[in-house]
Amino acid sequence: MTGIAAGLLRTWIGRLNLRSKTGRLAGTPLFIRNFLKHPCMLGSPLRSPRPLINEVLDRVAWEAADTVVEYGPGVGDFTREILRRLRPDARLVAIETNQEFVRFLCGSMRDSRLNVAHGSAADVAEVLGRSGCRRADYVISGIPFSTMPAGAREVILHASRAVLRPEGIFLVYQYSRRMLPDLRRVFRRVHCDFRRLGILPFWLFHCVP
Ligand SMILES: C[S@@+](CC[C@H](N)C(=O)[O-])C[C@H]1O[C@@H](n2cnc3c(N)ncnc32)[C@H](O)[C@@H]1O
Repeated sequence: MTGIAAGLLRTWIGRLNLRSKTGRLAGTPLFIRNFLKHPCMLGSPLRSPRPLINEVLDRVAWEAADTVVEYGPGVGDFTREILRRLRPDARLVAIETNQEFVRFLCGSMRDSRLNVAHGSAADVAEVLGRSGCRRADYVISGIPFSTMPAGAREVILHASRAVLRPEGIFLVYQYSRRMLPDLRRVFRRVHCDFRRLGILPFWLFHCVP
């Protein structure tokens, strides 16, 4: 991106920041600013649209879910909806590498069921242990697997399988299908669905350990 384009984008982000400090709009400047700083870590400049969030979360049996883990909550679009659907006595552990997002989430979401951890999905077992949970019923992931090194991807997939209950489910949404062979190698059963939201294609993988 040229310096001029980046400058214009920053001005626009600054204006957005003045317009709203609450609601979904509040996280947008932070999200775009961080995409410009860490494009590979975020994977996409777009926040997840509502139909994608519903498509993923409709696959969760909420009545049976005691412990849900979210990887890469970003500015909390999934987190907010997970908390809305989660049982009052269940737990949500959200793991995020970006310190700015962690601060934003801790400041904007006060819910005793939520624990936001600063760290990598690779450390999910340790984070769950610190939160007083052993196994997860669901791990929901929107982290950009296709832009990370193969070794790091492999570690996260094995760590995720290890923390799931035998009947647990790893739900992964991605803008490409590239992950499928890796998921098939690590998980016993993998179901893959393709969806299109306007011009935006995405794949949803449903993996059983
Ligand atoms: C495309 S954003 C998705 C944000 C949000 N879940 C959504 O759907 O709108 C990817 C997020 O994953 C985080 N992330 C990337 N690698 C990660 C890792 N190894 N562990 C935890 N979070 C990670 C990024 O910082 C970013 O917040």
